[in-house]
Amino acid sequence: MFRPLDRFIDSQTWLDSLAEPLQGWVNSLFSGGDAGKQVKNFLNGTWLGHPLHPVVTDVPIGAWVATLVLDTAASVSGDEGYERAADLTLATGLAAAAGAAASGWTDWSDTYGKDRKVGLVHGLTMVGTVLAYAASLGARWSGNRKLGRMWSNLGLGLLTAGAYLGGDEVYDLGFGVNHTAFLHGPTEFESVMPLDDLQPNKPTKADVKGVPILLVRIQDTLYALDDTCVHAGCSLAGGHLQGASIVCPCHGSQFDLRDGSVINGPATMPEPYYDVRVQNGMIEVKQGT
Ligand code: FES
Repeated sequence: MFRPLDRFIDSQTWLDSLAEPLQGWVNSLFSGGDAGKQVKNFLNGTWLGHPLHPVVTDVPIGAWVATLVLDTAASVSGDEGYERAADLTLATGLAAAAGAAASGWTDWSDTYGKDRKVGLVHGLTMVGTVLAYAASLGARWSGNRKLGRMWSNLGLGLLTAGAYLGGDEVYDLGFGVNHTAFLHGPTEFESVMPLDDLQPNKPTKADVKGVPILLVRIQDTLYALDDTCVHAGCSLAGGHLQGASIVCPCHGSQFDLRDGSVINGPATMPEPYYDVRVQNGMIEVKQGT
């Protein structure tokens, strides 16, 4: 059922003309040097080791489902206590939606192509959801509970559609997943290339047992990470060095070469790293311990 919708969204080229300036605006919010970077890291979930967005969306979703249950209980029983509780969960959902929106639009600012279009429709559907629930709260406060319930039912419908698109973004398009999850480097030392062939200070892509590896030589020290960026799969060998770290060429995630830990997002998960040694002039690697 979803494939035609998926294809339909991808065929809407006008979405790109909306996405382009919107992405530029979102990214401009984080342009304030190191402070801006730290705020973006926080909203991406770099500090958490997991994207923040799916964590914070649970609060409004749970609160608004509770609103439906309490509205139903109020209709059946006529108990005003249920009505007050429904209003409270609705307002809680609206307050929590701010965090979900901030983290979601931040993640979206690093998308492109089909991901960006589906993500934009997901985000706009969620904006519609918030507006519907805000209208519902206004109607309830003005004493028109019937209208309030209509708005919140519409909000729940939009929420479901938006959540569907958000799920598609992750499970079908692979946005936000660990792009090294199915790469498994050797657990015992394996030869990669002669040491003499590795130029100092030049990120170099190599292959070990079918797994792309990034090799870096800084003075006498050798480093090795998976070459595939955990964030969206770009080759880290195309990035640049900053001290003992590598900055991804696609969205600027920065990884410590010593252990793959994330210094700056949007990546949230560490880059797999390798133990490195030199035997008979050959560089050998195995999964880091
Ligand atoms: Fe996005 Fe590397 S692919 S930061």
